[in-house]
Amino acid sequence: MDCEGLAKKWLSEAFEAVVPGCGGGKVVPSKDTRFGDWQCNDAMGIAKRAGKNPRALAEEVIRALPLPEILEKAEVAGPGFINLTLSKSAVAAGVCALAQDAHLGIAQSGAGEKVVIDYSSPNVAKPMHIGHIRSTVIGNAIDRILRALGYEVIADNHLGDWGTQFGILIMGYRHFLTEEERDNLTVELLEKVYVKSYNATKEDPAWLEQCREELVRLQAGNAENLAVWKRFIEISLKEFGRIYDRLDVHFDLYRGESYYQPMLAPVVETLKEKGLATQSEGAWIVDMKDEGLEVAIVRKRDGGFNYTSTDIATVKDRTESFAPARIIYVTDDRQQLHFKQFFAICAKLGYCAKTVLQHVYFGLMRLPEGTFSTRQGNVIKLETLLDEAAARARKIVDESHPDWSDTARAALAEAIGIGAIKYADLSHDPTTMIVFTWERALALEGNSGPYLQYANARLNSLLDKYRAATGEDPSAHPLVLGTDAEKSLALHLLQYPNTVQRAGDLCKPSILADYLYQLSQLYSSFYQSSPVLKAEPEVRDSRIRLCDAVSKVLRGGLTLLGIPTPERI
Ligand code: ARG
Repeated sequence: MDCEGLAKKWLSEAFEAVVPGCGGGKVVPSKDTRFGDWQCNDAMGIAKRAGKNPRALAEEVIRALPLPEILEKAEVAGPGFINLTLSKSAVAAGVCALAQDAHLGIAQSGAGEKVVIDYSSPNVAKPMHIGHIRSTVIGNAIDRILRALGYEVIADNHLGDWGTQFGILIMGYRHFLTEEERDNLTVELLEKVYVKSYNATKEDPAWLEQCREELVRLQAGNAENLAVWKRFIEISLKEFGRIYDRLDVHFDLYRGESYYQPMLAPVVETLKEKGLATQSEGAWIVDMKDEGLEVAIVRKRDGGFNYTSTDIATVKDRTESFAPARIIYVTDDRQQLHFKQFFAICAKLGYCAKTVLQHVYFGLMRLPEGTFSTRQGNVIKLETLLDEAAARARKIVDESHPDWSDTARAALAEAIGIGAIKYADLSHDPTTMIVFTWERALALEGNSGPYLQYANARLNSLLDKYRAATGEDPSAHPLVLGTDAEKSLALHLLQYPNTVQRAGDLCKPSILADYLYQLSQLYSSFYQSSPVLKAEPEVRDSRIRLCDAVSKVLRGGLTLLGIPTPERI
């Protein structure tokens, strides 16, 4: 058992000895380490319930059992806080065990459980815009974190590849593109002709009618229309794939909306049979008054299905195919009502008796001058943003490494640019609105991706220097914690497994980002106060072992966020 586990065990047994059945003994890291490393605040509540004096109770608890070896001391402060100070040797042993463990101490709490994560999910024939970046980046970080916790994750890109827009698009494709353009099709061209064709539907009823006919033909499986539609998907996936490669994001499945089409009529039939769907003005609806939600349409007046019916069928299919413990959806907060509605409908249908449905939503990212993307336009495309980030990082790299080859500089600039964009997104609680500024995202100081990448690279070169100077492995010698800075840093390392667990349970990568930033700050104060390579050999060898553990955790944590970790910066 790790030292946190041992301390908790001792304390809860002590509480049990004093007030049987009270359940006391929770510990949290102390806010102020002058008073101890961990603290327990349970005595106050328990004393109140037992009609005892809280301070006296706390004193009784810490004296109930002999102090275990891992603790240096246990003290009572204020009205009844219990402060625990860990022994340096126990902390050192904990750090060494963590650094040697293949999972860096992360308990495989998800082993044997499946989780489906539905993220990114852009729409075919439309460029991915900045609104999709958060879904891709946050979704991918949750994906990586859950895998690290041992879950079997199924990352599913639920493409928007079906719907009335395809009739409009087919017409635009046939009438507004030259043959050459059709041969060299891009998403940008598709978007252009879509807008043109859409505008035509507003002005020309005959055009609108033709769009409808093309859609009906597509839905009926007309070979020609199906072939064009497949081409739209193929072109879109090629472009999306380019972005996913740059972001190092990979999916296990690409089951778009079209995959579920054959299941929609039966799903609505079931809703009717169960008396859950009723007809209203020609449409089929589910009344959700009891849930305090607006009416949800599941089949439109024209007989067509919609986003809601598709998502209900998706839950049915995913639970039947994978029996996941959780299905997580990552989208912007404008879709909250949609998710509440179809989650409630799935519950009524009994589709998720064994599956938790969870909507992780985020606010849109803004530029100081306004929103990045609106339904009205003013759209900054994702690829443009990534290019801009790499170009800005390139300036920094050119200055610091004029001697490097062009390829090496380009690769580093790309890693810094992507890291900056991802971290700017992940370092905030997803539900908060963020104002994005280039200065903050690319800053080499402060809470930014490049700052953490830089800390990681500096650690790499320190470890390399040690290897070169001594010919030894940085983890070959015992770790002996001397100074307070060393102990604080080591204690923070011990919090890594719990931090990853919490970030995964709450689907908040920002918890891990905060942790890593604190780690780099603690490392930096350690490094400023404690020379490593210049210290006496014994101290040097011990300190380098600590640095090695910091390096492993920092690199491991950044990788869980999907942030590249270049060797040198
Ligand atoms: N394609 C949708 C959009 O771009 C997101 C789909 C999210 N996933 C889902 N199962 N509804 O807004």
